[in-house]
Amino acid sequence: MPQATISLHNKEFAPYLPEAQITAAVRDLAARINRDYAGQTPLFVAVLNGSFMFAADLLKDVTLDCEVAFIRVASYAGTSTTGEVKEILGLQEDVQGRHLIIVEDIVDTGHTMQAMLQQLRAQQPASVEVATLLIKPDCLQHELHIKYQGLAIPNDFVVGYGLDYDGLGRNYRDLYRVV
Ligand code: IMP
Repeated sequence: MPQATISLHNKEFAPYLPEAQITAAVRDLAARINRDYAGQTPLFVAVLNGSFMFAADLLKDVTLDCEVAFIRVASYAGTSTTGEVKEILGLQEDVQGRHLIIVEDIVDTGHTMQAMLQQLRAQQPASVEVATLLIKPDCLQHELHIKYQGLAIPNDFVVGYGLDYDGLGRNYRDLYRVV
């Protein structure tokens, strides 16, 4: 268990979920994926930056033939009716007919995931599922089917294990929550 609180910019974060608990959740997800995709060659689509640590650990426990692509999601101010527009950047692979597994660090309101699912489905993959390390069920504002959920957490802001607060905190092995 990590002992000390950490300071990032102007905020204090207290130890929340230790590495061992994260690792166990990641292994469970990988085991389920290995079973569910036996005989297939899925394409993992990892969403940068936040999922880099989760994607690395998850993929180390995936024993299938598989491919990995990395994307970013750019946010733009839309019109007053569309609100914020989220666009996928960096997907070079042809996803038509492929079995996709989106790898995300955290689903909060679900706006980002909703937009990604819409854009990926428009490219006619054979299937799309989501693997997220963390989900905040109380914050979800969309009807999303998230098949692979690592850990459900309350509506707290967390950092570590790839997640940041204004750029800092991604490098910690454990998860911390804002005090
Ligand atoms: P959503 O579109 O509201 O679901 O937000 C998803 C994105 O917000 C994630 O990919 C993160 O980049 C960021 N985010 C949401 N909650 C947290 C948090 O507790 N810590 C760090 N980043 C977060």
